[in-house]
Amino acid sequence: MTGERFPLVRAVFEYENTNMPQNIYDNPEFFAGYDRLRETGSGMNEVLEQPAFRSLLPDVTGLRVLDMGCGAGEMCRLLADQGAATVTGMDVSENMLEKALEQHQDRVTYIHTSAEEAAFDVGSFDLVVSSLMLHYVEDISLLLKKIHTWLACGGKYIFSMEHPVATATQGLVETRWDRGENGEPIAWRLAHYSEEGERSTRWFIDGVVKYHRTVATVVNGLIGSGFRISQMLEPHAIEEAERERPELIDERMRPAFLFIAAEAVK
Ligand SMILES: C[S@@+](CC[C@H](N)C(=O)[O-])C[C@H]1O[C@@H](n2cnc3c(N)ncnc32)[C@H](O)[C@@H]1O
Repeated sequence: MTGERFPLVRAVFEYENTNMPQNIYDNPEFFAGYDRLRETGSGMNEVLEQPAFRSLLPDVTGLRVLDMGCGAGEMCRLLADQGAATVTGMDVSENMLEKALEQHQDRVTYIHTSAEEAAFDVGSFDLVVSSLMLHYVEDISLLLKKIHTWLACGGKYIFSMEHPVATATQGLVETRWDRGENGEPIAWRLAHYSEEGERSTRWFIDGVVKYHRTVATVVNGLIGSGFRISQMLEPHAIEEAERERPELIDERMRPAFLFIAAEAVK
């Protein structure tokens, strides 16, 4: 197993001059914006993404779990609470891991490494999860093959990512919603869908790099890596949240996130 166990000496990420993946969550301005979003619960995580993700989780009792892009460790703590034997949280961002470490949980270990650089022994895990991390990875077909080897036979990979209908236009078009007379969204614009690759966009700061790929590329990447897809979700916000924040009903016009649960066939 590689990757440095946290805490560690603060590394300097000079990804502009290296092949290291982007580590935008360690940019202070970005991190402050993201942290505020999560602390206030004003984003889509608590009302849409997390409920859908949890609905896909199996009984984790006794499982060895890897959470890739674990962020502040909410999912790691949940899985340990639910009886996982071990939970390994892994993230490229020291800021996020520092937040994770603020709340100790038995059976949870954090590793500071990127998904691209991570390496584990064959069959190390029964369940791999990644919540909203995959759209930051340039070569998912290589990563999916690695995840397949890290899973035991019948092990599951469950993930969410920004939906391709959302990433397609990021950074490429100025207006993403068609709006009615009162400024209300009436349709989502879709363009550049087949043009896979880097999208440099503004989210708290300019120059946040994500990778767009089609749904077919994601699904075929899984199949080609030896996975059998068991469930997909393109959810809208939970209804209780829609009642409290009516603007969330607009999210029904297009899927913001794509979820897939897949099983490693060996
Ligand atoms: C949107 S946050 C989600 C955090 C957490 N999974 C959650 O749902 O609360 C994305 C996380 O992925 C991490 N990340 C982005 N690119 C990564 C990479 N290439 N390898 C590992 N982690 C990465 C970020 O540092 C960040 O913590």
